[in-house]
Amino acid sequence: MNTESSPQAHCEADTTLERTCRARDIVRDLELVDTALDSHELRYLHIKELLNQSGMLNHEMARVRNLFGERLGEFGNELDDDIWEMLTILELFDDETAEHCVETYRIAKDKVERTLSTGFVLADFFKEEGVDVNTFYRACLLHDIGKVEVPYLVVINKISDPDCARLLFEHKDDVLIPSLKKHLNDEMFVLPENINSGDALLKYLHDTLTVRPQTLAPVRLLLGEMTPSEKQEVERQLAHCVCTLDDSLITVMRPHDGFSERILASGGRKIEGVLASSHHENHGNEYKITVGALQISVDLAHIIHLADVENAIRSMRHYKEGQTPLMALKILAIHSQQKLVASFITYIWIADELHRNWDGNQSEQENYDYIAKFLDTQKSTHLGYPDWRSVHASTPSTSL
Ligand SMILES: [Fe+2]
Ligand SMILES: [Fe+2]
Repeated sequence: MNTESSPQAHCEADTTLERTCRARDIVRDLELVDTALDSHELRYLHIKELLNQSGMLNHEMARVRNLFGERLGEFGNELDDDIWEMLTILELFDDETAEHCVETYRIAKDKVERTLSTGFVLADFFKEEGVDVNTFYRACLLHDIGKVEVPYLVVINKISDPDCARLLFEHKDDVLIPSLKKHLNDEMFVLPENINSGDALLKYLHDTLTVRPQTLAPVRLLLGEMTPSEKQEVERQLAHCVCTLDDSLITVMRPHDGFSERILASGGRKIEGVLASSHHENHGNEYKITVGALQISVDLAHIIHLADVENAIRSMRHYKEGQTPLMALKILAIHSQQKLVASFITYIWIADELHRNWDGNQSEQENYDYIAKFLDTQKSTHLGYPDWRSVHASTPSTSL
């Protein structure tokens, strides 16, 4: 393909801003994933080569170092060029995802290095076992690099849960019901009669079926009207993820963690890759630390999971409005109940966050009660868990 003509159509003059604009066009170019690039090849490597050939990679790396340098601090100063290359390409692809990755790193670092309400300092256990904390932090920082392999139009589709539920309700007979029958593996499924609006559907999906509407909505519905050539391009990109327009947003996004592993491993970052590959689902890996007198094993990928979800829920991604800190904790508790993340690390994480964020706000009482019940249940079923209600002497507490 001609690497210059498409970008130049969007950006004509040669200023710094326009160079970034051209670089973004290269990174997002639909034609990059064509029939010659199957699911065994990495789009990331093609992008890097094109940016290098066009002489833009070093300029863009300098811009991204400048953008995130202060927030990454000393850790950022010590990062090798290959890590900055990945962060730069991710930022060019979708700046919001790069922001999210930086914040996931910052949340994880804070949780690892600070004395938690239960008295643990996770960094001490990293040290005791000789686990390099910077390797772990690099995995946090690049856990979503695999999103550059997912169709750009899907990654940037930030449809909220309520909007997605409304859209599904508008397509009740042709999309919603068939999708629910498939999801529930029940050909006889009938939607309850009281589900008479998008909002009622959302409540039913969340509370009764514990499923997000994005799990049911095919990307064909979410992307809306497309010209035949746009449709063809998106289909080619979807094929790279072994998906079609009939797959849901969640299904199309799912392979990104495996792609993160492959991209990191392609640059010799095997451990970072294994950790990143487990940030959504618990694949079980060998990288763990043992914590506390009980010697409980903590999978490092679970710390990434908790930081990832906390940031994703509290920021605006995929939701109509930023959710409250307690709503994020409730979702972490649900993930633990669904066995997506282990009990002990979730317990000490939520206990710490609750002490930092609960201010007795009545509007949050329901969420607080849910979380407190989760913590009480964990404490009563696991011998030796520290008491989540008490705060370790050296932990600054804002409330309770
Ligand atoms: Fe992710
Ligand atoms: Fe993430």
